[in-house]
Amino acid sequence: MSAATIARPQSAVVSGSFFDASNEGFRHSYDKKAFSYSHIFTESHPLFQRARMRRLLAEGTATRPWAVYDAGDIQVGQRWETYPAKTKTVEETFDDIDSGRAWMMLRHVEKDPEYGELLDQCLAEVSRLSGQEIDSDKKSQEAIIFFTSPNRVTAYHIDRECNFLMQVRGSKTINIFDRTDKDVVPEAELEKFWAKDNNAGVYKPQFQDRAFVCEMKPGIGVHIPVNCPHWLQNGDDVGISFSISYQFKDWKRKNVYQANYHLRRMGMNPTPPGQSALIDNSKRLAIETGLTLKRIIKRKSK
Ligand SMILES: [Fe+2]
Repeated sequence: MSAATIARPQSAVVSGSFFDASNEGFRHSYDKKAFSYSHIFTESHPLFQRARMRRLLAEGTATRPWAVYDAGDIQVGQRWETYPAKTKTVEETFDDIDSGRAWMMLRHVEKDPEYGELLDQCLAEVSRLSGQEIDSDKKSQEAIIFFTSPNRVTAYHIDRECNFLMQVRGSKTINIFDRTDKDVVPEAELEKFWAKDNNAGVYKPQFQDRAFVCEMKPGIGVHIPVNCPHWLQNGDDVGISFSISYQFKDWKRKNVYQANYHLRRMGMNPTPPGQSALIDNSKRLAIETGLTLKRIIKRKSK
């Protein structure tokens, strides 16, 4: 067979529009409030068929999943470290997902060129629809595929990513809370999260009725702004979700929250980020240079 007759595999990526461009949430609520939107991804898409995703495990393309749990009933407010020990391999968990009680995530699937191209195209569209310069603001990006067994709960947690989560198969209910609601998300909780504890978010059932609740099904996605806590209840079938996310550069939040964590431990009641550019910049400088926080803030405040 000559080189000219060798069939090249067609790209599985669909070019064009992935999201409902008429949805004003992209422009008005980006990294502020949760909102839902329509998208094109379903199980019929070539990149979201089980055999294709199973290949990611077989080829070792995706980073080994950060979390694979097949652990019976998980409670909404349960902390990660109290989960029962894993009993299955990643491959066994994937293959048993229909009958198990598992939640698993395939991280960094963008290392596979097809998923990588899809991530880049999706983020470009988010940037266009939101009017935000994502490329210059982000320090990293990631595509994740979530697999969830029927009826499984994903416990309440806070993320550092700006996330667009899309349901591809099955159904699930997501509950997203407003990070500016200080009853639900006290500043001290966010400071602890950014400084030392990824599981710092504490579920407060008395405020459950304040959640933005979305019934997700194939073709429906939600935006989860940075630090907006959330928990999920999967439906009675296997759920598959696709997440595109990115982390902002540290100056935007991380450095200020870390400074505030230390200031609170010194007995102060630090100003939350975003209220004073002068104070925020002083804290960023302190974290970046390691100088004494108190000395810099005192000097800059004069
Ligand atoms: Fe999350």
